[in-house]
Amino acid sequence: NAGSSDAKNLRVKLVLLGDSGVGKSCIVLRFVRGQFDPTSKVTVGASFLSQTIALQDSTTVKFEIWDTAGQERYAALAPLYYRGAAVAVVVYDITSPDSFNKAQYWVKELQKHGSPDIVMALVGNKADLHEKREVPAQDGIEYAEKNGMFFIETSAKTADNINQLFEEIAKRLP
Ligand code: GTP
Ligand code: MG
Repeated sequence: NAGSSDAKNLRVKLVLLGDSGVGKSCIVLRFVRGQFDPTSKVTVGASFLSQTIALQDSTTVKFEIWDTAGQERYAALAPLYYRGAAVAVVVYDITSPDSFNKAQYWVKELQKHGSPDIVMALVGNKADLHEKREVPAQDGIEYAEKNGMFFIETSAKTADNINQLFEEIAKRLP
């Protein structure tokens, strides 16, 4: 790799966690295929997709993404996916305080059972629904700060901040 001393090819296992319906699968679909599905079906078990991005220093990062099922009946499966993950993206819906509480549950679970050097992001999705907002951005910011997480609000529908989410994660990899 002469002449480009910074260039690397990284492979990163990433897991998405969060309540059913917050938009995890839509975030992944937007990131990987550039599409939005208003009739997105609930995920059963988990689904796997991968996507590679290039950073400015010509490093490439291949995200191996485990999109978990948020329905309560699948909660016991989550450790299979977050164990060994380098990155956890915990998603809530800005119109749903319940989903913000659930996000905090997942953060605690990751702190207890995830790998000690895991990179965690807190994502407030459905930012396009600002008229229905019930979780102030400030609450997300403060919770993320307290827990050493990166915070961002996204919209899988409008694509707002979706690429930025993954770029910011890539920058924070050890
Ligand atoms: P589980 O698979 O059950 O855990 O749910 P999920 O988190 O994967 O939710 P999913 O991505 O399937 O999205 C649920 C619903 O929210 C769908 O009707 C989506 O169209 C809608 N949705 C997802 N993201 C957004 C968004 O950014 N804005 C709006 N307005 N709707 C969204
Ligand atoms: Mg899903």
